[in-house]
Amino acid sequence: MKDKLLTIQNAAVEEAKKTQSEVELQQLKAKYLGRKCEVTTLMKGMAHLSVEERPVIGAYANMVKDELEMLFANRLESIRFESQKQRLMSEQLDVTLPGRRLREGHKHPITLVMEELVEIFSSLGFGVAEGPEIEKDFYNFEALNIPKDHPARDMQDTFYVSDEIVLRTHTSPVQIRTMLNQSPPVRVIAPGTVYRRDSDLTHSPMFHQIEGFLVDCRVTFGDLKGILTTFITEFFGENLGVRFRPSFFPFTEPSAEVDIQCVICGGKGCRVCGQSGWLEILGSGMIDPEVFRSVGYDADRYSGFAFGMGIERIAMLKYGVNDLRLFFENDLRFLRQF
Ligand code: DAH
Repeated sequence: MKDKLLTIQNAAVEEAKKTQSEVELQQLKAKYLGRKCEVTTLMKGMAHLSVEERPVIGAYANMVKDELEMLFANRLESIRFESQKQRLMSEQLDVTLPGRRLREGHKHPITLVMEELVEIFSSLGFGVAEGPEIEKDFYNFEALNIPKDHPARDMQDTFYVSDEIVLRTHTSPVQIRTMLNQSPPVRVIAPGTVYRRDSDLTHSPMFHQIEGFLVDCRVTFGDLKGILTTFITEFFGENLGVRFRPSFFPFTEPSAEVDIQCVICGGKGCRVCGQSGWLEILGSGMIDPEVFRSVGYDADRYSGFAFGMGIERIAMLKYGVNDLRLFFENDLRFLRQF
C-alpha cells in the first residue's frame, strides 16, 4: 500500500506541474484530496491490513495528504504570480493621461471666524486660554456671582450632568479658572464650545462663544469701549455705528450690551434688525468686585472688563446667513461657499 501511495503522490506532482489555471488546479485537488479521491479509495483497503500495519500505513497516508496540500498551495501561488505577471506585461499604461484630482477640503466657517477673532485679539495683546466643556457648577455659576436658587440662573437653560456638574453654558468660567491661576495683569480670550437647552432658527443646543477679559490697575469702561470698537471695526469693516446699551449680567457692574448698525440695511431698518437699524452682538461690562473676591483678587487695587459673544451669531451677521442650523447640517453646497 505504501508503494501505491507513493505512485499516487508522484502522479499528483507531475499533473500539478502541468496545470495552467486556478480552475484546473481546483479540479486536480478534488481528484487527489476530495471526498471520493484516490487516496480515500485506497484507504478503504486498510481493513485488510494487520493490526500492526494499520497505524503505520495510516500515518504514512496522512503525511502524503499533508504533502499534497502543500503542493497544491504552492502551485496556486505560482499560478497567481504568473497570471499577474502576464497582465502587467500586456497592459498598456498611458502615463500622459491627467490624474484624478483629490477634492481639497477646507475649514468650517465657524472655525474660520474663530481664527479670525483670535487673530484680531492677539494683535491687541490678548493671550488664549481654554477650559473644559464639562464644568463644575462652581466655575460656571457660583464664582461668577450666580448663587444656587438665584433667578439669574434662569437666563441660561442648563444641561445638568449631576447636581454639581454641568455642560458649560458659556465661556465665562474660563475667567475664573484663569484668575485663580494667574495674578494681574491678565489679558486673555477664551474661545470654545458651550451648551444650552435651546433649539430654533437662531439657537442650537451646542454653539460657540468667545470670552475676553482684562484685569489691571486703573482699567476703565473707556478701555472696554476702545478695545471693542477696535475689534468691531477690524471684523466688520470701517464706518459701522456702535452702541453701548445698559444691561445686566451678574458678573459685571455696570453691564452693557453692544449693538452694531445693521449690516444688512445699513441702519435704515429691515426684517433682520426688526426695523430698529441695530443688531446686538455681545454682552460686556466691568468685572463685578464679587467675582474678584471669589478668585482672591484685591478689588480695591484692581479693576477689569469682560465681554462674551456668540460666534455663530456674528458669523451669521458677517456672511448674511439667516438660519443658524445651516452651520451644523454639513451640507457641502453651503459649506463650500466659505
Ligand atoms: N456669559 C454671557 C452669556 O453667555 C455673556 C457675557 C456677558 C460674557 C457679559 C461676559 C460679560 O464676559 O461681561 O450670556
